[in-house]
Amino acid sequence: MKTHKKSLVSMADFSKEDLASILDLTKRIKSKPLSKSNILKNESVALIFAKPSLRTRVSFEVGVNQLGGSSITIRMDEISIGSRENVEDIAKVLSKYVKAIVIRTYEQKQISDLDKYSTVPVINALSNEEHPCQIVADLHTIKETFGKLAGLKIAYIGDGNNVAQSLIIGAALSDMNISLGCPEKYSPVPAFIKLAKKINPKIKIEIVKDPKVAAKNADVLYTDVWTSMGQEKEFKKRKKIFSNYQINDGLLKIAHKNAIVLHCLPAHKGQEITAKVFDQFSEVIYRQAENRLHAQKAILIRLLEG
Ligand code: CP
Ligand code: NVA
Repeated sequence: MKTHKKSLVSMADFSKEDLASILDLTKRIKSKPLSKSNILKNESVALIFAKPSLRTRVSFEVGVNQLGGSSITIRMDEISIGSRENVEDIAKVLSKYVKAIVIRTYEQKQISDLDKYSTVPVINALSNEEHPCQIVADLHTIKETFGKLAGLKIAYIGDGNNVAQSLIIGAALSDMNISLGCPEKYSPVPAFIKLAKKINPKIKIEIVKDPKVAAKNADVLYTDVWTSMGQEKEFKKRKKIFSNYQINDGLLKIAHKNAIVLHCLPAHKGQEITAKVFDQFSEVIYRQAENRLHAQKAILIRLLEG
């Protein structure tokens, strides 16, 4: 039995070298998306979803298929980790059937517990804390647009959520400076800043309340929804608190003149981004979504290689 397996539970599971290698592979895969890979031939991957998804689910299903395997999508309420059955039994049983487990859920701990007991790679497809697959695709998108990552400034505007937290680690791993404009009490958890500083003491990490300060001279403006999945009851309150944290023409003027705008999607136009700015940058935003597919195939290959 394989004793050493690699997983992607947190963006911080990657070293700088791991990430660079995955980004190189993403580029190669994108240039020949349907080239034969046998890595999953006759094998299966389990995809567990406790929250809705368009991009993550479809891109994983398509990606697994393109790698020669088949995917089994399981709704969390069919297996109910921790109530119908404990996480250890689920991890150990699934490991007998599938080559990898992809999971989108609420608690990060549920993913790390699954990883603890599983003998196959576990991939975080979004938790309340992190969204590492998204960030790999985002970094690839930035790299294919600017030809580099190191030295660029990314400004994240809005909620210091799962996407923001993985993005901070991603910036540290790729020598990018990052500035986050978040309302008071909606900043990322300080542990992520601490970790990013430890990974890369040379980059500049800034958390500010004023989105204009964050956006100043940024090469990339990035935003995400104000209300994440699971926070729907807070929608009204958040809509007020975040009303000033919008990527619009005014903010775009403050960024670098060649800046791009990214959005992980789904987007709520008129809230975190104006319809006008979205349309202006729709090519790169849809390409960012496309890159989920290429990036996740690269992640699967690297993790399965062990
Ligand atoms: N960006 C993203 O993860 O989209 P889905 O929630 O649709 O998977
Ligand atoms: N922060 C968002 C990301 C969606 C891809 C959420 O968790 O709902």
